[in-house]
Parts: sequence; C-alpha cells; structure tokens
Amino acid sequence: MHRYPVLPEGIAYGGDYNPEQWPEETWHEDVRLMREAGVNLVSLGVFAWGLLEPAEGVYDFAWLDRVLDLLQENGIKVNLATPTASPPPWFRRAHPGARLVDQQGRVVSGGSRHGFCPSSPEYARAAARITERLAERYATHPAVVMWHVHNEYGWANAACYCEVSQEHFRRWLRERYGTLEALNAAWGTTFWGLRHGAWDEIEAPRNPAPGLIPALQLDFQRFCVEAHIELFRAEREVIRRFSDLPVTTNFMIANCKPMDYWRWAAEVDVVSNDHYLQAERPGNHIELAMCADLTRSVAGGSPWMLMEHSTGAVNWQPRNLAKRPGEMRRNSLAHVARGSDSVLFFQWRASRFGAEKFHSAMVPHAGPDSRLWREVVALGRDVRRLAGVRGGRVAAEVAILWDWESWWALELDWRPSVDLDFRERVEAYYEALWREHVTVDFAHPGADLSRYKLVVAPSAYLLTQEAGKNLRRHVESGGHLLVSYFSGIADEHDTIHPGPYPGALRDVLGLTVEEFHPLAERASVPVSGGLTGRVWSERVRPAGARAVRTFEGGPDAGHPAVTQHDLGEGVAWYVATAPGDLRGLLAEVLDAAGVDRPRGLPDTLELVRRGRHLFLINHGEEPVTVEGVTGVALLDGRACDGSVTVPGGDVVVVAAPDR
Ligand code: GAL
Repeated sequence: MHRYPVLPEGIAYGGDYNPEQWPEETWHEDVRLMREAGVNLVSLGVFAWGLLEPAEGVYDFAWLDRVLDLLQENGIKVNLATPTASPPPWFRRAHPGARLVDQQGRVVSGGSRHGFCPSSPEYARAAARITERLAERYATHPAVVMWHVHNEYGWANAACYCEVSQEHFRRWLRERYGTLEALNAAWGTTFWGLRHGAWDEIEAPRNPAPGLIPALQLDFQRFCVEAHIELFRAEREVIRRFSDLPVTTNFMIANCKPMDYWRWAAEVDVVSNDHYLQAERPGNHIELAMCADLTRSVAGGSPWMLMEHSTGAVNWQPRNLAKRPGEMRRNSLAHVARGSDSVLFFQWRASRFGAEKFHSAMVPHAGPDSRLWREVVALGRDVRRLAGVRGGRVAAEVAILWDWESWWALELDWRPSVDLDFRERVEAYYEALWREHVTVDFAHPGADLSRYKLVVAPSAYLLTQEAGKNLRRHVESGGHLLVSYFSGIADEHDTIHPGPYPGALRDVLGLTVEEFHPLAERASVPVSGGLTGRVWSERVRPAGARAVRTFEGGPDAGHPAVTQHDLGEGVAWYVATAPGDLRGLLAEVLDAAGVDRPRGLPDTLELVRRGRHLFLINHGEEPVTVEGVTGVALLDGRACDGSVTVPGGDVVVVAAPDR
C-alpha cells in the first residue's frame, strides 16, 4: 500500500533539520529563513536518541516539544524520525553483546552511528522503547504529517558477524528450508563433501575462506535484508498503535548493494530515497536519472519522495566538488520529473562540528548572503510553481530488468571474468536509452511486463526458470526482449540450469552458448557493422535465431555476436559482447519495437513526461529548441505555442492545456 503525506502545499520542500546542534536563538532564525525559502517539510530528530534519552529510561522531550511547536506556528510540517540509526554511547556500554562485529570478526568501535548488531534483541527492545515514547507523545501533534523510521538501514551495518547474528542466520535457514536435506540439496554440498549434518555446523561467512559455498553466501545476503526488515517492521508496528500517518524509511537505491529494495518497498507506505551525485563522474546526471527511475519502479510507479540530496558538495567523496550554479536546480527537478513529490536535502543548516561539517546544506557556513542560499530560495519558488505536478505518473514503454539477487550472485568470487559487473552493464544500457530520450522503468524479472514494448536484460545472470517463462510470455505476446551476455545462467541457489547455456533463456532467444571466451583486460574484438566488443566473446549456436552482427575477430570470429529470434508475436535479441557504442544497435531495436521517441535533439537534453507535464532539462551549454510543444511553461509563466526553447543549463516545465 502506498499512501502520501498530507502536506499543506504540492511538492514538499526542505530537508533534515538538526536544531539540537544549535542554540535556541538560531531556531528562530531557522524558521524565518525556512519561510523565506518556502520550506514546508523537515525531517526532525533523525539522530537525536542520545539527547531524547540521555540515560537508559531517562527522557528529555522538552526541547523537541518546543521545536515542534515553533515549526507548527510557522506552518512547517514535520516528518518525525525515530532516532534508532544512532544508539547512544550508554547503550553500547550497557549492552556489549549488541555491538557490531565486522567480517573479520572484530568489534567495530563506538563513536559513530549504526554501530549495532541488527540481530540483537537488546537493540530491538531499546529501539521499540524510544519509538513508543515518541509515537505516544507526538502522534497527534499537528505539525507531524509522517514518520521517518531509522535512517538508511544497512548504511554501515548491513551484515553483522557476531554469534547472535550467526544463531539468527541458522534460525532463518531452518524456516526457509525446514530440513537439512533440503538445505544440502539447495546448496549443492556434495561439492567438496560439505554436507551439513546439524544446523549448528552452519557458519556465517565470517573471515571467509576462498571458494565458500556460493549458495550460502547468497542466503546470508538474503538473511541480512530480512534482519533489517524485521527491525523496521517492529518500529512501524509500535507507531501504528498510536498513529495512522504514513511511515517510510529512506533507501539508498542502486548505491546499497546489500539491500534488496524490491523487498523493502513492500513494507513502507511511501517509498523514499537518498541520492548523492558522484561529483567527479562525467554524465553524473544520467546516474541520477537512473536512480530516480529505479526508485519510482520499486514504488510500483507511484509518486515517491526524494528524502535527501545535496545543495552542493558532500564530505565523503575523494574530492568533494561543489555543484556548479544551476546544477542543484537541474538535479532537484530531474527527481521531480521522474516521480518525486518532494525536494528534500541533507541538511538544513551546515554543522559546525562533527563528521559532516564540510557537507553542504541549504544554509551554508557563509550564511544567507551567498550564491547557494539565493539558489535555495529560487528553487523554493520553482517548487511552489510545480505544485500541480504532484501525484502525476511517468509512463515508460521500455523496462530494464533489475534484481539485487542477481547483482550479488554475478559478483561472487570465481566467475569467468572479474570484468563481469552488474552496474556497469545496466548503466551502459541505461545511458544509451537516456541519450535516445527514452524514459525507462526498472522491473523485477518476475514482474508483469505486459505494458512494455521492449524489455532489456543487461545483466541477468541469476534468473529462475519461472522468470525465463515470464520473459518468454512477454515475447510471445508481441514484446521485444534484448538480452546481454552471461544472462539466464544460474538459479536462485547459484546452480547452473541444466543443459547448455543459457538455461533459462535458450527457448526464448532461440540459441545455445557452447563456450564462454572472456577477453583479456583491455582487449577488444571487431564486430560487423563497425562495432567493437569488449569484456566478452562466446560461441553462440543459433537454434532458430539469426545472426544480425558477427564477430570478425577473436576466438569467435565468423560466429554470431548479435542475434534476433522471432517468437510468437514478438522478437528476442541477444548481444554476446559489450559493444563499445550501444546507441546504434539500441536505436535499431527501439525502432523494431516501435518505441516512440523524439528525434534530432541533442543528447544533453533530458526530456521526461510526468502526467500532463513535460520536463525539459538542458545539461548542455547551448540553447535547444523543441518543436511540437504547446502549453504553459510553469517556471516563468511563458505560453508555448508549438515550440519551446530551453537555454543552456536551464529547466523548462510545460503543462499541457487541460483537455
Ligand atoms: C546520508 C545520510 C545522512 C548524511 C548524508 C551525507 O547517507 O542519510 O545522514 O550522512 O548521507 O551525505
């Protein structure tokens, strides 16, 4: 179920507010500035456990009462956090058994956040207690409109390797498999004679030896996700006893490999995400778009919330580049274009002390007499003008398959090549589609794919037979499918499907793969049609498919590199290498699939339709004119009558006329 926070205005604008770091006089300046910028929502108390409960069972809510009242008086609503991501130092001392143990078996030291064991009953009890106090006290406070449980589950403690966690893992396995016979069969333990004869013979992968049972590693990852979800559920249920307001927790989509957000999304009332730009990376706005699309997709297409991003530099990258003028605005509005109903930042006011003091904020150390503050105020105005965008949905004709389990499995040790990289392949295809101005959804391989003209599987190593059948149904009923190499190989236990590769996709692709020929580092092979293949080559044997490109060199010279297979009403394509330039090939597939897209626009223009709003974000320096656009440009009130020009670096949002 997805429900929305009840906000006074359209799009939520604001961020994490940490008044506890400031004297009370500053709070008054804060609310004055918040009003100036049009802030209407703040996340409060995210890391305040040690201040709300200064000693076990001793509470101090007086300051939070005053902050909440002050915000309410100023018309600013609150996303009230449970502070459980940062247990206080007293908790650590009182409960040494709840300390996080790393993969080398070392206790992680205190003095930071997230240093607890996710399987610790003491932690769960303490977290439930502070949550209960907060929920009973503030459930009916008029400023509170939603709940922000915890912060980024798994940020530093995705897995704990203590004895308590190990026991929890065994209990979880017992529930999953029922019997040791079933577990041994699933894990393939006849290999190296690693048959387990008792549950307590099973060890979590602490300090793992090379060649550890792959299925054990996958199950441990699954278990870790569930351990965190159990904690979330427990807090959510405490809140539910007092409040019906929406409950969320902020994700780190695509940037937290250990957390399977398909599973997480089912637990929250509204999906929310934190996104930080990879400052030094060229084309980082494309990675941003990908994360926004993935967030919308795990939300089932419903609007979601951008819970955190930054006004400028972060503090944790090797070189923390500031955003250029206009970049924050383009970033924020790109999230809105792709389904976010909020523009929220970490954080409101830059800290003077602590680990994140060089992180940007809405109010920088320079204060309001600064370029950054002026941009924050201007963005607040833009956001208010976009109120009507709220709730709008983004329609996509193309889906990319994304599966965290397959990501884990692909990147376990001892694969045919260390260059097999889930994100690299997904991003390569995503980027080519972005540059073709095609909006994409992401989809789980088992999901209903019927609304897509084209489904792309850039890296679907782990693919169950059921998922393979799902893809086959998609093609038979008229869809196109584009699959990249080393997909459909293994099942959920990392056991290779019977018969020749790719077991889960042979029928739909109309081929088999006789042998893999991974390429040497930096080596490439020529492919017909002017392509160059990197990373991978393999011996494809058509069985119904026809070659549309051929390897012209390397171990598979003369054999198919790209194939096409007509099946039922649709077509399945296969790409047996990593083409240096994907765009030409993709354009061919998009045309064949009948995917509609604008032509002749520069590939620096981001173009997304959300409901009746067209977002045009110009990441280039030159102005771009787009024809065929009619309506009102909401950010400056201009009427567009058949065309619109977007100046370099600028954003235009056109509302189509009401029909
Ligand atoms: C996020 C976190 C915030 C803050 C931010 C800095 O991961 O949720 O609390 O640390 O990063 O970029």
